[in-house]
Amino acid sequence: SRQPIVAIDGPAGAGKSTVARQVAAALGLVYLDTGAMYRALTWLVLDSGIDINDLPAIAQLASSCQIQLASSTDLENPVRVWINDREVTQHIRSLEVTAHVSKVASQSAVRQELLRQQQRWGQKGGLVAEGRDIGTHVFPNAELKIFLTASVRERARRRQQDFEHQGQVTLTLEQLEKSIAERDFLDSTRELAPLQKAADAMEICTDGLSIAEVTAKIISLYHDLG
Ligand code: C5P
Repeated sequence: SRQPIVAIDGPAGAGKSTVARQVAAALGLVYLDTGAMYRALTWLVLDSGIDINDLPAIAQLASSCQIQLASSTDLENPVRVWINDREVTQHIRSLEVTAHVSKVASQSAVRQELLRQQQRWGQKGGLVAEGRDIGTHVFPNAELKIFLTASVRERARRRQQDFEHQGQVTLTLEQLEKSIAERDFLDSTRELAPLQKAADAMEICTDGLSIAEVTAKIISLYHDLG
């Protein structure tokens, strides 16, 4: 029988990536960053010079894309990402990709193809998968489902700190709040697999909690599974 799957969903900047990575490491499970897959495809769309509204062309790219992910010991880029054999680890974190990813991710052909690739990762279980629709669509039978939230202000502050740590140009808090709120709106109002708390997910609001506290909480929920 397959090993357990932990599904972690939530809006942009709620701390999903760091927490999911640490939970996976502590439990000896594989970490899957599904947002990185949507970002990689978005990078490819932009790099190919395809119009962001050219749905047939985007569908065509999606259906033929090959995405690879690998964990890395580089703390700044803990997940290495390739699309069609091009490494895009850093490119997919750009402001341009971030600004267009929700649009690309709302397309049916894109979601169908990435869903297929994500479910292949989960065939044997033993996975901590993180995204927007993991508990609702990708792995609806996941043993443990977590919905991570935080206020927009808190999430903008965390994003700003991330940028500062990476030595990247940072936006103002107001700009970050605006970009986060826009992405939340698009992700939670789209027709297909919108960002939504699964009925059987545990909601954790991370305002005022450290990464370590959130990680410990999820690990304890996992051990309670029985
Ligand atoms: O988590 P991250 O910010 O990297 O996700 C980037 C974007 O990818 C999200 O804003 C969303 O539009 C899309 N996404 C999605 N479904 C997922 C993961 C990410 O639609 N499971």
